[in-house]
Order: sequence, then C-alpha cells, then structure tokens
Amino acid sequence: MRFFRILFLLVPVLDSVVMKFTNFECESYNKSWFVFHNCRLKAVSRNRIVLNMNGSILHPVSVCHVNAKVDKKANGYKPWILDFQIDACRFLRKNYNPVAKIVYNLFREFSNINHTCPYMGPQIIQGFYLRPELLKLPFPTGEYRLSLRFFLHRKHQFDTNVSFAYVEDLLNSKKGNYTK
Ligand SMILES: *[C@@H]1O[C@H](CO)[C@@H](O)[C@H](O)[C@H]1NC(C)=O
Ligand SMILES: *[C@@H]1O[C@H](CO)[C@@H](O)[C@H](O)[C@H]1NC(C)=O
Ligand SMILES: *[C@@H]1O[C@H](CO)[C@@H](O)[C@H](O)[C@H]1NC(C)=O
Ligand SMILES: *[C@@H]1O[C@H](CO)[C@@H](O)[C@H](O)[C@H]1NC(C)=O
Repeated sequence: MRFFRILFLLVPVLDSVVMKFTNFECESYNKSWFVFHNCRLKAVSRNRIVLNMNGSILHPVSVCHVNAKVDKKANGYKPWILDFQIDACRFLRKNYNPVAKIVYNLFREFSNINHTCPYMGPQIIQGFYLRPELLKLPFPTGEYRLSLRFFLHRKHQFDTNVSFAYVEDLLNSKKGNYTK
C-alpha cells in the first residue's frame, strides 16, 4: 500500500522537517446558519505562520459530519492520500478516528472547538501554528491541501480548506546523508 511505503521512507527524517501553512480558504453556503468573520493566515515571524479563524453558528448544531480529503499539489491538486468522513459529534465524545485525532490534537489548544455537541455561537481558532513533531503521519516533501466539508444536520453548509508545505530540512538533519 502506498501509504505504508511512504511511512517507511520518511520516518528517519521526521525530526527535521519544516511545516507551514500556505493558504486558508473558508466559505459558507448558508449564511443564516454559519458565518465566517475572519479566515486568514498571518506571518508572525520568519518561521511561523499562524492560522486565525472566527466564525459564528447561528442555529444550534447537534448533528455534524465532516468530509475530509487530503490532496498533494502537483500540477494542480490530485486526489491522493486520504478521503474519509467523520461524525464530528461522536468524534468529540470519543476520539474514534486516529487521523482526525492527529488533526484535532494539532489545533485544539488554539480553539474553543474543544467540547462535545451541541455547538452554537462563536467558533474561534486563534494563533494556530503547525508543529510537525505532533504529526505522527509523515509526508514526502511537498504542498498539501486538507479540505474539510461540513454537513450540519446532513446539509452541506460550509467548507474550510487549508494548504500547507511539508519540507524536509536536510541541512539541519542529523541524517544528512538520507537519500531518496
Ligand atoms: C475546497 O476544496 C475543494 C476540493 O477539495 C473544492 O472543491 C472547494 O471548492 C474548495 N472550497 C473553497 C472554499 O476553497
Ligand atoms: C440554512 O440554515 C437554516 C438554519 O439557520 C436551515 O433551517 C436551512 O435548512 C438551511 N438551508 C439549507 C439549504 O441548508
Ligand atoms: C469574531 O468576530 C465577531 C464579529 O465580527 C467579533 O465580535 C468577535 O470579537 C470576534 N472574536 C474574536 C476572538 O476575534
Ligand atoms: C475550551 O476552550 C475555552 C476557550 O479557549 C477554554 O476557556 C476552556 O478551558 C477549554 N476547555 C477545555 C476542556 O479544554
């Protein structure tokens, strides 16, 4: 399986990667249910780009499903590593999906999206930056996009798409003689 081949190839360089956001897009398809006030990346220092999101849920949400897709950029984006759906309310009760858990652990401390359903009112992610050491899934160098499609009460209501670059920092690698 391609996934395991990648794991095998990249585990040795996990301690020497640079990972940063490159793009963030949000769109609501029903502004009477979900509104984005802010959806932006900001460079706070040479090596750190933070993601800020501020949205409001205007009608209580007790059923939420998320379609998640990860693509790798290569002459446009190509469907690639992952494509799955989670029941977000169930996930927030018990982190049953290991991949969603990795993504969630990356951002939860920067967010008020940290409780079980129902959800209502302000949804904030503030100052979120990537820490590759928490990402237990290694990737080959490249630019990736994680597209999240949110279905509230089974209706598609909004999307958030985030792109990031994952680069092996070979200069600083302890295993500088690593070859492909
Ligand atoms: C998010 O990405 C998907 C592809 O995965 C695309 O169809 C959709 O238009 C994008 N939405 C936004 C708001 O960029
Ligand atoms: C838009 O949101 C409202 C709740 O504020 C909901 O009742 C309605 O069904 C939604 N419309 C669509 C097309 O999903
Ligand atoms: C989010 O946006 C709302 C509406 O503009 C604003 O009132 C609120 O202060 C913002 N919250 C944060 C944490 O930026
Ligand atoms: C959830 O986030 C809010 C706002 O950041 C914070 O006050 C609260 O302590 C957090 N709760 C948990 C369980 O992490």
